[in-house]
Amino acid sequence: MNYTNTLKRALALTLSTAILTLSGCGNSDKPEKPAPKAEVSAINDGGEPSGSKILIAYFAVAENSDVDAEASASATSDGRGRMKAMADMIQIETGGDLFSIRTSVEYPGDGAKLIDYADKEQKDYVRPELTSHIENLDDYDVIFVGYPNWWFDMPMVMYSFFDEYDFSGKTIVPFNSHNGSGFSNTIKTIQSLEPDANVISDGFTVNEKDVESSAEDIAEWVNGLGYSKE
Ligand SMILES: Cc1cc2nc3c(=O)[nH]c(=O)nc-3n(C[C@H](O)[C@H](O)[C@H](O)COP(=O)(O)O)c2cc1C
Repeated sequence: MNYTNTLKRALALTLSTAILTLSGCGNSDKPEKPAPKAEVSAINDGGEPSGSKILIAYFAVAENSDVDAEASASATSDGRGRMKAMADMIQIETGGDLFSIRTSVEYPGDGAKLIDYADKEQKDYVRPELTSHIENLDDYDVIFVGYPNWWFDMPMVMYSFFDEYDFSGKTIVPFNSHNGSGFSNTIKTIQSLEPDANVISDGFTVNEKDVESSAEDIAEWVNGLGYSKE
């Protein structure tokens, strides 16, 4: 059986909405790997050291796209993108620091092109170059890690991320959004990539259409894990 065709067939239904919505957006050029962007350091979006030991690292394609975040396939009604919206909700509950996983790859803003691009990236085992780096990992003992489900797996940039860091002795808390597949096997994959980390199996996963209304569920989940700031 041809694996790619099987995946494509399975995805055709779940992704059709995104493709239909997005076809016609963006340009028709083949995606090219652009020059690396400027390096972005660890971010505390509040501008002040929080003193928290929680880091919320997330990959938002809207922040790594060849179009403005608001025009990207991931745009939420306020333009942040789904994974950033979830990361912000977790930040509000935990008081942790935000860290945006950035890459020199500029992903196609056009949804159909993005799907093909990500398919090829996965088949080629690409490890996209990271342009943001956690400078102060020792400060954190709990790392929330957020990513969309791409082709029943994490985006390949997440493999670059787990290649770069040794999270031994730390707790990893996965969160994700999807269009039907939930986490797929990604939590087990993370545990295999970080064998000496405590990877929480009770991650938070939400369908793309419910992301914007998930603040209360996220608050409850964070509280249940014992990571609420209050
Ligand atoms: C390249 C690509 C591949 C995807 N593959 C899957 C998949 O295998 N299973 C699934 O449930 N959703 C899949 N989706 C849907 C996304 O997981 C979902 O739209 C998610 O909310 C995207 O988050 P984001 O908008 O912050 O990137 C895929 C989306 C893209 C763009």
